[in-house]
Amino acid sequence: MPVLTAKRTAPTDDKRWRIVETRMRRLGDRPEALIEALHAAQEAFGYLDSDALQYVSDILGVPPAKVYGVATFYSFFTLKPQGEHTCVVCTGTACYINGAKDIMAGIDAHFGIKPRQTTPDGKLSLLTARCLGACSLAPAVIVDGNVHGKITADELIARLEAI
Ligand code: FES
Repeated sequence: MPVLTAKRTAPTDDKRWRIVETRMRRLGDRPEALIEALHAAQEAFGYLDSDALQYVSDILGVPPAKVYGVATFYSFFTLKPQGEHTCVVCTGTACYINGAKDIMAGIDAHFGIKPRQTTPDGKLSLLTARCLGACSLAPAVIVDGNVHGKITADELIARLEAI
């Protein structure tokens, strides 16, 4: 039985959140409505940013890692900025103190991109998340929908170079 800790506050007072909230309520605010909820958010905003993913996670009670995984797995979802591959680095507390900062610095030094940027060749986009719900794996990242835990900057860079 999942612990219900849903925050029902929209990230901003942008009226489009009301549209998304209404759509999710009509779908029953159920975890099974995840894909439809992501569609609703993308239709309202044109893409899914970390606020939208976190909001859907909170409302539906779906772990953030799963929401990010689904959103980055299906090609019909768009995360801004959009590259051929997407790397989401968790910068939540557990991940931050366990090396997320070094991971971000490593990606910046190697690929020349900061969060919400895409490499000039359009191959890799870097995003951040507040918590992926996988804190025991800190530092955690998601590469193209797959969670990787306890990863170092060098290991991640090698993995990203191989995709
Ligand atoms: S803080 Fe990174 S997974 Fe929770």
